Amino acid sequence: MRNEASESATAPARSAPPRHIAIIMDGNGRWAAARGLPRLEGHRRGVEALRRAVRAAGELGVSYLTVYSFSSENWRRPPQEISDLMGLMKRFIRNDLADLHASGVRVRIIGARDNLAPDIRSLLVEAEELTRDNTKLNLTVAFNYGSRQEIAQAARKIAQAVAEGRLDPARIDETMIDACLDTQGVPDPDLIIRTSGEQRLSNFLLWQSAYAEFVFLPGHWPDFDRAALEEAIGIYQSRDRRYGAVSIQDAKTGELAGA
Ligand code: FPP
Repeated sequence: MRNEASESATAPARSAPPRHIAIIMDGNGRWAAARGLPRLEGHRRGVEALRRAVRAAGELGVSYLTVYSFSSENWRRPPQEISDLMGLMKRFIRNDLADLHASGVRVRIIGARDNLAPDIRSLLVEAEELTRDNTKLNLTVAFNYGSRQEIAQAARKIAQAVAEGRLDPARIDETMIDACLDTQGVPDPDLIIRTSGEQRLSNFLLWQSAYAEFVFLPGHWPDFDRAALEEAIGIYQSRDRRYGAVSIQDAKTGELAGA
């Protein structure tokens, strides 16, 4: 029989649930290959998993959800797959925008816009403008996004202000750089999840992930569901986030040792 009193006395304190979860949705191709299906089918099922993730995040009280749906390096894929992914993005906005809006989701899209087709560009603007005042969940879709490019663009903006004599270089700090990134106004991710077992960032939120916790799940993205999200949150809550300081427990031990 469980002894709840002694368990709670010895169990480490669980941290608060994450306010911002970012997800690298990986493994669509492998999911499809394992079933003898075309890669497009994996991406289609990936969109369904994305819908489940958005719903679950809202239900679990997550305030910010960021997903990596097309990287600046994904242009290296075969033209047909690029066209399929562009098509899925358009369909996602056309089919899901009304529901997202009705559910109180604010949609932001981060990434470069200049090399996207005009019809996609206007859909992205429409999604952002329609949902601008929603507050239930902040969904950021990283589309045509690359973190190094984002940081280089911020550097260019700041250098330009210095060159024009509008900015003293001594005033450049972390807050100013934050404000020049695509994610301006969005808090840093607390938890970054990557599916399909790979353990790398792949040019995603490099600056913003300075103190994020990483959880790598073995399952492929099309199988992602609320249970997987809860599992990742549970792992996150068992971690001790110290931000370069010492844990509360170690600090107390230190105080006793010094007393
Ligand atoms: C990684 O799987 C996934 C992507 C490159 C795209 C993610 C896209 C979706 C979840 C669907 C599209 C969603 C929107 C909103 C457009 P992979 O193809 O790299 O899989 P693999 O590593 O197994 O080949």
